[in-house]
Amino acid sequence: MSDIEINSVLTENRLFEPSAEFAAKARIKPEDYQALKKKADEDYEGFWAEQAKQLMDWHTPFTRTLDDSNAPYFKWFTDGSMNVSYNCIDRHLAENANKTAIIFEGEAGDTRHISYQQLHDEVCQFANALKAKGIKKGDRVVIYMPMVPEAVIAMQACARIGAIHSVVFGGFSADSLRDRIDDARAVMLITADGGTRGGKVVELKEAADKALSSGCDSIENVIVLKRSGHDIAMQDGRDSWWSDAVAGQDTTCEPEWVNAEDPLFLLYTSGSTGKPKGIQHSSAGYLLNAITTNLWVFDLQDDDIFWCTADVGWITGHTYVAYGPLATGTTIVMYEGGPMTPDAGRFWKMVEDHKVSVFYTAPTAIRALMKFGDEYPNKYDLSSIRLLGTVGEPINPEAWMWYHTVIGKERCPIVDTWWQTETGANVLTPLPGVTATKPGSCTLPLPGMDVDIVNEDGESITEANTGGYLVIKKPWPSMLRTIWGDDERYVDTYYPKFGGKYYLAGDSARRDEDGYFWIMGRIDDVLNVSGHRLGTMEVESALVANDAVVEAAVVGRPHEVKGESIVAFVICQGERPVGEDAEKMVTELRNWVGDQIGAIAKPDDIRFADGLPKTRSGKIMRRLLRTIAAGEEITSDTSTLENEAVVAQLQGKA
Ligand code: WTA
Repeated sequence: MSDIEINSVLTENRLFEPSAEFAAKARIKPEDYQALKKKADEDYEGFWAEQAKQLMDWHTPFTRTLDDSNAPYFKWFTDGSMNVSYNCIDRHLAENANKTAIIFEGEAGDTRHISYQQLHDEVCQFANALKAKGIKKGDRVVIYMPMVPEAVIAMQACARIGAIHSVVFGGFSADSLRDRIDDARAVMLITADGGTRGGKVVELKEAADKALSSGCDSIENVIVLKRSGHDIAMQDGRDSWWSDAVAGQDTTCEPEWVNAEDPLFLLYTSGSTGKPKGIQHSSAGYLLNAITTNLWVFDLQDDDIFWCTADVGWITGHTYVAYGPLATGTTIVMYEGGPMTPDAGRFWKMVEDHKVSVFYTAPTAIRALMKFGDEYPNKYDLSSIRLLGTVGEPINPEAWMWYHTVIGKERCPIVDTWWQTETGANVLTPLPGVTATKPGSCTLPLPGMDVDIVNEDGESITEANTGGYLVIKKPWPSMLRTIWGDDERYVDTYYPKFGGKYYLAGDSARRDEDGYFWIMGRIDDVLNVSGHRLGTMEVESALVANDAVVEAAVVGRPHEVKGESIVAFVICQGERPVGEDAEKMVTELRNWVGDQIGAIAKPDDIRFADGLPKTRSGKIMRRLLRTIAAGEEITSDTSTLENEAVVAQLQGKA
């Protein structure tokens, strides 16, 4: 773990209070916030027990709230049973069967409205189809789909029968898919003939076939949704079309009443080794915080139309698309295509067309759209929007101000939500009717979240603007339960310091004079490219798996739109490639990494040298590589390096 780098501290003096109009209608008003905080401070378990009773429907009510007898393997509501899909769908049917659950738009402009009743019927039919193929409680099912309603239906159907889903982002390659299937020992794969993005077909089935032919011996069945309609191969006995699988299936399916702690899903995410971690979430605890945050942070009310632009392949697409907003009976928007198709006005056109009232996206998308100027948003009527959110990385104040003025017309609060795949739901965030916001700060912990910044010894840092480790001191309901199949790595990764007492988030942060949190960056070798986590080791392992490569080191470089971009320093077999050879090798290696991991992992810049800068003890000087990657002047002394000459090569000077 590298030590904490203190960024230059900019003081932000602009403060944006929620408008009186917003605050008056908000679910959580200042007095509610104070009451929640007081309750959580005074009676932590009682606080969560009360929320869990109020906000969820239980089959068997729980009597025990937190079980910390085997810390840090915390458990919640252990003697209760419930069903996530029942909580997301069935309980709305008595009063809201005809309310729209999902408004879907494809890239070509095709739309579909699905009511809660229809969602119920389709989820049940698909759940019955899964059962007919032998899927039972606890089985792992991998979902590799485009952003279409069937992706949510598949997730909800798994939840309904107690199967554990693992959604793999459609942009990941065949090899990444195979590794995730193998790690989870999944018995079924649900995919589509293809998706559409940026006018191109995403060849999901082709990638799936490639994955299945190179491993995945646990897979017994593949269900394929017809979406793109182009020709694909189907394997007899293994593959069946979605439409055939659901044909004749009943539109009711009794939910499997699972234990609160039974896993709902796995979601693989990057860490500081080459191997992604299967983050394991529970059923009840996860759903509880999905609900509390959708209500408190997104202030979801009866007539809201909530559009979270995240793909279901990421945690944001789980908590703020597939589960949380449905559990609160909200209408959501799902969009299959790219934000630039046909032009940079697509999001804003969709806001107008579907009267989106709550809009949640990533800073990288805001920066990318901002570059096209105000003319695109100004073409559309954005007056339906009342609340904006961001997630995935720190938002720079300039992008925040653009979002605030050009999209929110200075009327709408912005919730900058800090959280992680592991936390399951928002942790640090403004409450839109309560918290005054500052551009670039995720402000304060939610009620019930005991977040702190500590030094190397685990002591709370009280001085303003002093960086430290971001930790969460008490367990919370939606925290990860473990890393699938690797309990030891769970402890080593999240509870390695401070006597194993605090959850270590892996981010560094500081607090300003008002106690507001500012995220400074990762403390491990994890990159944040366009809001997506990627381990430097993952990219390095992919590079060295190429026969031409002997050694590789990967670092991040600040990028205007993506936040960070990937720079790879590569040592090849034989002579260092130069000129045309180097260009060819760059193309080959970029495509190679794309095949190994996915297009998001392709390095933006690849440089060749005869060696990597190492200390005499053989340690790669990553900080020096970051300086070189950023094109900054090297101020540290490089004469102690084992091989000083390579520095000039890596800088492109020799
Ligand atoms: C970063 C995404 C600053 C952070 C939900 C975290 C953020 C990692 C923010 C988790 C934010 C997420 N401000 N940084 N509002 N939100 N991050 O697991 O480094 O894909 O640890 O979850 O993204 O990424 P993950």
